[in-house]
Amino acid sequence: MATIELQKVEKRFGDFQAVKPMDLTIHDGEFVVLLGPSGCGKTTTLRMISGLEAVTSGTILLDGRNVTWLHPSERDIAFVFQLYALYPHISVRDNIAFPLRAQGESKETIEKRVKEVVDLLQIGHLLDARPGKLSGGDQQRVALARALVRRPAAFLMDEPLGALDADFRESMRAEIKQLHIDQHATTVYVTHDQVEAMAMGDRIVVMSDAEIQQIGTPSEVYYKPANVFVARFIGSPGMNLARGHYSEGRVRLKGQNNVYAVPDDWQQALGKALGGSGDVLVGFRPEAARISADGPIAGEVYATELQGAYVMLYININEDEIIHIRAERIHQHQIGDTVRFDIDPRMVRFFDPASERAITREAAQ
Ligand SMILES: Nc1ncnc2c1ncn2[C@@H]1O[C@H](COP(=O)(O)OP(=O)(O)OP(=O)(O)O)[C@@H](O)[C@H]1O
Ligand SMILES: [Mg+2]
Repeated sequence: MATIELQKVEKRFGDFQAVKPMDLTIHDGEFVVLLGPSGCGKTTTLRMISGLEAVTSGTILLDGRNVTWLHPSERDIAFVFQLYALYPHISVRDNIAFPLRAQGESKETIEKRVKEVVDLLQIGHLLDARPGKLSGGDQQRVALARALVRRPAAFLMDEPLGALDADFRESMRAEIKQLHIDQHATTVYVTHDQVEAMAMGDRIVVMSDAEIQQIGTPSEVYYKPANVFVARFIGSPGMNLARGHYSEGRVRLKGQNNVYAVPDDWQQALGKALGGSGDVLVGFRPEAARISADGPIAGEVYATELQGAYVMLYININEDEIIHIRAERIHQHQIGDTVRFDIDPRMVRFFDPASERAITREAAQ
């Protein structure tokens, strides 16, 4: 299997910088997801790793070997596109066997390897069909089989589930993850869907504006976003970021008379980051808010959404800031009601509004 290393890898199209110099190491057997909004450079990054796109500068190492200027076929990496990359006029069997024939493998080897991968993906009954006659999910399984049969050192997948409907996406997501657990092949998976990224990635590389915003486990990017972009982008809805001013252990939130007492273990970090006092963003996930009659922060219910197991409350905490709170279904909240809440001290985060970077306790030590 393989380690993939990007060292200051950059891509320009003329004057336009599609990927700013990027450092990234993907470990052997790891499942890494590149996540970010449309146009942030995910596909371009993947294409540079595969060799389909030449780098403008920088170095790509595969297992320590410099492959930067090698042809895609010399890199031992399989690229799984969206499902329509199958050959429509030949059978599923021939589609899957195609890369092995191209490599000049013997008939026996081809038969054996096709059977292995077909058993793995449970598509033996489809071997004689033409891809055009198959459902989206089955076409995607065939496309995966064709990539797997090569036994490459690494897999690159660019939104492979993008064309499937929601139910299929979920089951295919689990299948791909299971396949990865079985095979342990180094995988780089591109998506703009943060739910998919959270569900599948060992680590997530969050990108925007042609650069990496944060690299971390799903739990790290969710609970400890490195900046305001990641805080907002991960989660649906994203993290609440209430504006306020910090001084002497308290944040006076903008608007109403809301004063939030900063947990003791954060005060030193805030004091240091803000030079004693200053403007700050108080970040908390909707499930980190705890509704209680004596909560320090008050707001007015602006809208409510029943989301099955719970209710999402939209709370107006001042004239232009609406935050989201996840509440028990059992409570009845009417539009216009005042709601008071506190924030779970283990789940509160702080950001510097000027730099938009997270304030961390580690930096204060
Ligand atoms: N061949 C090209 N020539 C010029 N610009 C390009 C080329 N390929 C990509 N770009 C631009 O580079 C930027 C990054 O594109 P890329 O396809 O990598 O984005 P992406 O993150 O994969 O987006 P999406 O989620 O929409 O697939 C975009 O602004 C795109 O328009
Ligand atoms: Mg793309």
